[in-house]
Amino acid sequence: MPIEKKFIDKFVNVTSKAALASSFFIGKKDKIAADKAAVDSMRSELNKINIQGEIVIGEGELDEAPMLYIGERVGNNKNGPEFDIAVDPLEGTNFVANNLPGALSVIAIAEKNNLFKAPETYMEKISTRVNDKNVIDLDFSVKQNISNLSDYLNKNPENLTACILNRPRHKEIIDELNKLKVNLKLITDGDVSGALLVAEKKYNVDIFLGIGGGPEGVLSAAALDSYNCNFQGRFLFKTDEDKIRAKKMGIDDLTKKYELNEIVTGDSIFCATGITSGDLVKGVEIQGDEFISETLVTHKSSGIKKVIKLKQNSK
Ligand code: FBP
Repeated sequence: MPIEKKFIDKFVNVTSKAALASSFFIGKKDKIAADKAAVDSMRSELNKINIQGEIVIGEGELDEAPMLYIGERVGNNKNGPEFDIAVDPLEGTNFVANNLPGALSVIAIAEKNNLFKAPETYMEKISTRVNDKNVIDLDFSVKQNISNLSDYLNKNPENLTACILNRPRHKEIIDELNKLKVNLKLITDGDVSGALLVAEKKYNVDIFLGIGGGPEGVLSAAALDSYNCNFQGRFLFKTDEDKIRAKKMGIDDLTKKYELNEIVTGDSIFCATGITSGDLVKGVEIQGDEFISETLVTHKSSGIKKVIKLKQNSK
């Protein structure tokens, strides 16, 4: 069953309010307070909506997160539609703490049992706009992926751009991309945005790859589904504790490569509101008692993919 369009505005309101709450901490060097403000606001706004929601991606598990923990029920209606909800109330804690571009407040909603329950662990990811099978694949080498993409798009590698988190763990990938003369967009944080930059030509990114957060991977997949892009993810479980948690959450094959539609199925809504301005949306702007927010929204069944600009009371 499609998710009714009337919910779009409600979820845009949720991420807009969370973005506002977090925006008061921009540049204050306090990641924890900035995150807490976004979490508190998001939870309280979600609980005003007539839904029966379950957090499937959140701030952690019950023992580590008092709010928006995995498994928490949100919404105020025992008879409302049942949704799976993934949240990242503040994506880019460093960005807010240090007043850097690209902080977002993010949510994804799918029908019940249609969004992957992902543990807090790393995920190997790859995404492109090209949705034909066998063009890019997590199991291909970097060279193979670039060569396939270059053939498919009829562009020399010199004219391709790859986005990747700038981390020591990516040294080999980055070296290989440099060898192939692919242009690099190195990001310091915020790989939900990084993965989404492949969605539209205007962002000038052809491929996103590398290892980042698993929850961020699931959120990105939800948006990329509406853009009909390709995304694959593979969780990386390092410690025994990680592996036990994953098994408890129902993941039997710990090395499985997930296709986008194994991560999110059916209808979905995705909202990402800017806290500080970035590639996708502008940050919160306060004007007296009002604030302006920009939210990138997708709704799969209606084909909506747009930025919604809102001016509302900030009190
Ligand atoms: P936070 O907002 O939780 O700080 O996450 C930012 C982020 O850059 C994510 O976008 C990304 O998936 C992850 O951290 C990468 O983790 P790490 O910094 O450990 O490489």
